[in-house]
Amino acid sequence: MPFISRGEVSYITGAASGIGRALATMLVNQSGLVVIADLNSEAGSKFASELNEKEGSIVAISAKTDTTVWEDQLAAFQQAKSTFKRIDYVFANAGIAEHPWLPPFDPETATSRPIVKPDLATVDINLTGQLYTAALALQTFERQEVGPSGFRGKLILTASVFGYYPSRAMPLYAASKAGIINFMRSAAQYYAAKNITINAIAPNLVDTPIAPDVLFVPFRERKLLSDMKLVLEQFQKCLGESDINGQALSICQESIWIHPPDTHMFEKNDPACELISVQLFKLFGDNTL
Ligand SMILES: NC(=O)c1ccc[n+]([C@@H]2O[C@H](COP(=O)([O-])OP(=O)(O)OC[C@H]3O[C@@H](n4cnc5c(N)ncnc54)[C@H](O)[C@@H]3O)[C@@H](O)[C@H]2O)c1
Repeated sequence: MPFISRGEVSYITGAASGIGRALATMLVNQSGLVVIADLNSEAGSKFASELNEKEGSIVAISAKTDTTVWEDQLAAFQQAKSTFKRIDYVFANAGIAEHPWLPPFDPETATSRPIVKPDLATVDINLTGQLYTAALALQTFERQEVGPSGFRGKLILTASVFGYYPSRAMPLYAASKAGIINFMRSAAQYYAAKNITINAIAPNLVDTPIAPDVLFVPFRERKLLSDMKLVLEQFQKCLGESDINGQALSICQESIWIHPPDTHMFEKNDPACELISVQLFKLFGDNTL
């Protein structure tokens, strides 16, 4: 398992709770420095203080950040850079469970109800927010030299198995995570030769405060939850000198696998899809073909 180098810096969104918190703890245990970027500033700064007290030095800072607000994240990145000088790993992790986007389907009452604007909070946070994090990460990596592990930087996004597994109860969550996975696969191709890796971790249900505790009860009873330790191991595989790139590292209960892209008609698509890239790069004036 590749380890990080002493003093390498990680910027983690949503690190005040759940997966992000467990990840920050793991990285500090490996002599890393962490930036806890979270909307919940109280929990974020309490967590940073706990880590600093335990280590007896400043190993963590917290930044109040709403990931859907560009200026918030820009300020958090600037705070991270001015405190720790460089950012080696960026974890675009903050996310929420499905917010119903439309009222439940009910033709009987529909005609007496106004047509409503959808609630897109799930996509705003899970997709747009993570893309803001990605945009800051990639531009930060572009502006710094190769670090101790031989890379300018590594971006890891927290997706979900619902990035490729449809869910009738969570269409927006599924849309956001599918967006993250194909963004990751696409951007990873572009940055591969630029000493930057991009991967996604795609767990099935993990016991965290993402949803009310009562929702987890039947999953605990039927042993359908995925182990946080295995989730952390998949993050770990993307760090340090690892050259894993463009992969969706997946976890379901005790199983792990790298989820392959859908290859249906892939070869038939190849010539047109490759030519689209060449033509678009010409149009964008980008000569990194
Ligand atoms: N728990 C699961 O079952 C599970 C499974 C697969 C993927 N995931 C993904 O893992 C990631 C972390 O989820 P978790 O289970 O640790 O949840 P969590 O609720 O325990 O932690 C999420 C953290 O993100 C923060 N956050 C929420 N919106 C934010 C915003 N706009 N800006 C900044 N911070 C914000 C919250 O304050 C919280 O601290 C999410 O992207 C989630 O979709 C979770």
